[in-house]
Amino acid sequence: MIKVAFFDTKAYDKPSFEHYGQLHDMQFRFLETKLNEDTVELARGCDAVCVFVNDTVNAKVIDQLHGMGVKLIALRSAGYNNVDIHSAYGKVHVVHVPAYSPYAVAEHAMALLLTSIRRIHKAYIRTRDFNFSLNGLTGFDLHGKTVGVIGTGKIGRIFIDICRGFGMNVIAYDLFPAKDSGIKYVSLEELFRSSDIISLHCPLTDETRHMINADAIETMKKGIVIINTSRGGLIDTEALLEGIKARKVGAACLDVYEEEADIFFEDRSGHILNDELLARLISMPNVIVTSHQAFLTEEALNNIAETTVNNILSYFENDGLCDNELCYRCGNIERCKKERKEKCF
Ligand code: NAI
Repeated sequence: MIKVAFFDTKAYDKPSFEHYGQLHDMQFRFLETKLNEDTVELARGCDAVCVFVNDTVNAKVIDQLHGMGVKLIALRSAGYNNVDIHSAYGKVHVVHVPAYSPYAVAEHAMALLLTSIRRIHKAYIRTRDFNFSLNGLTGFDLHGKTVGVIGTGKIGRIFIDICRGFGMNVIAYDLFPAKDSGIKYVSLEELFRSSDIISLHCPLTDETRHMINADAIETMKKGIVIINTSRGGLIDTEALLEGIKARKVGAACLDVYEEEADIFFEDRSGHILNDELLARLISMPNVIVTSHQAFLTEEALNNIAETTVNNILSYFENDGLCDNELCYRCGNIERCKKERKEKCF
């Protein structure tokens, strides 16, 4: 039986993982705590750990996992910026779920955008209080507006299709533009300059960290709407707040936040929020924050559990080979798969 320590367990994770685990004689040790240097010991005796976006899988944690004989880190997410994959090379293999429902995330990005610009969040609260006034609820048409999409991978491209359905003019920027996609690629500078709405769908890397900063916001149109369903670190939050206070940024729709790790996914309603920046952002009438919820659909949860269990099985029962193993050199599995026919190490 393959034993897996499952960190940062939430109630919605369990049913699908229990279902697929039982099918394959896999035992999950469900732990509510996040993985970090203080909690890594809880994985002792397990063959693999299963982690999510806010678990800390740094060099020290990897060395400790390696030392206690854990062979595999199975991410139940697509993004893997929380894993030091270079340190994992030669020690512990890392697999992820490249796509579970890109539709879930792209649709959430559009849901945030519509909610924000049509003031649905305000209207909902008003009518519950029998306040049927329309003052202050004026929105704008998406039709004919220019949306700039940064990152045209699986999620970005679905978001583009959705935007086209609304009659929007789509421009995009990607480090690796998709050939023959019919997408109009422009430079990042032009995208910042020309967009009415910007939606982020690229990974968080050293290169993309704080790509939306004070300088970038300065070059954007007045009233720019910024949507981030990718990773919080893509935006310099202080600069965003300044842009909002200066009335330059018209609205921000945030499903992710750079300091979300100790805040998101938990009920903090009875506590004082110690994060001034987040509290100030949430207090703004033109900011909508959801707590990393974009992935959360039934379809996605099922796909995540099925793919993660298959990744683990594939690793332990297929001589260590797994299609969804990350590349420890370039960190880009799509590119590497073409070159790599064997295990990384
Ligand atoms: P993907 O790998 O299919 O696409 C990412 C795209 O970004 C690729 O086309 C890549 O060439 C491009 N890219 C890489 N570096 C870039 C750079 N420096 N500048 C511009 N583009 C760059 O990934 P997918 O599945 O579309 O996911 C995108 C992101 O969405 C993930 O990295 C993850 O952080 C986030 N995500 C968020 C979720 C949520 O619940 N909020 C759930 C799933 C993913």
